[in-house]
Amino acid sequence: MRTLVIIPTYNERATLPAALRRTREAVPDADILVADDNSPDGTGDLADEAAAADDHIHVLHRPGKEGLGRAYVAGFGWALERGYELIVEMDADGSHRPEQLPALLARAAQPDAPDLVLGSRWVDGGEVVNWPKHREVLSRGGNLYVRLMLGLPVGDATGGFRVYRASTLARLPLGEIESQGYCFQVDMTWRVHRLGGRIVEVPISFVERTEGTSKMSQRIVTEALVRTTTWGLAHRGRQVARLLPGRRTRADRR
Ligand code: GDD
Ligand code: MN
Repeated sequence: MRTLVIIPTYNERATLPAALRRTREAVPDADILVADDNSPDGTGDLADEAAAADDHIHVLHRPGKEGLGRAYVAGFGWALERGYELIVEMDADGSHRPEQLPALLARAAQPDAPDLVLGSRWVDGGEVVNWPKHREVLSRGGNLYVRLMLGLPVGDATGGFRVYRASTLARLPLGEIESQGYCFQVDMTWRVHRLGGRIVEVPISFVERTEGTSKMSQRIVTEALVRTTTWGLAHRGRQVARLLPGRRTRADRR
């Protein structure tokens, strides 16, 4: 199946070359799109050089730092316009090991093809390596909160190593997505779930980066908390409304 691996970058000069090389080796038939937010460190130029030397590599230059969510939405649009069938999200920093991509893609291409394959840290067989304790607590806590608020039946809704079926993405109102930071991942999972899409998880080994720095910030955590709470209250409110007599509507089903 025609596959595009989207790699969002902001100041990933130190990590992008290895990500590109390892991805090309692991999935030689796939194309790669680097979605760079005009990184001050020149990651965009580096990506251009790689693209000039390899037909499988493409670059989407964004005007400035607008967050992971916007970069991915732009990348999804790029992919859908060009007829890719499977669309992959992957970090540049080596935390998502390109060597595990074939397993994710194989799961996505099985006859019972799911709409979304999540590379998952928090299922049996999944793990994190060298992650600071506070990040692990934040991720586990965040995922627990997501399950409590949204009832999403997955272990790792916040991870960013995943495969979408393009036809599923095409059914989503991508232009309406407001999530900018890492809650974009929850937003997308939630949207696929509400669409009635099938989501499966494949365990991954998430390895903390050894080069460059994380873009995680207080702002990203706050956005995730506020949005998940807003979505959750609306969702639980709809569920309660459904229990009241005479108020059942089609829109209440999920
Ligand atoms: N274009 C663009 N714009 N890329 C961005 C931006 C942005 O504003 N912010 C981050 N990125 C890119 C980074 O360059 C990297 O390739 C990827 O997004 C992940 O960023 P990291 O900063 O390495 O994320 P992390 O390791 O702290 O967070 C991990 O955990 C999150 C929570 O579970 C990742 O796996 C995230 O995907 C995940 O949501
Ligand atoms: Mn990272």
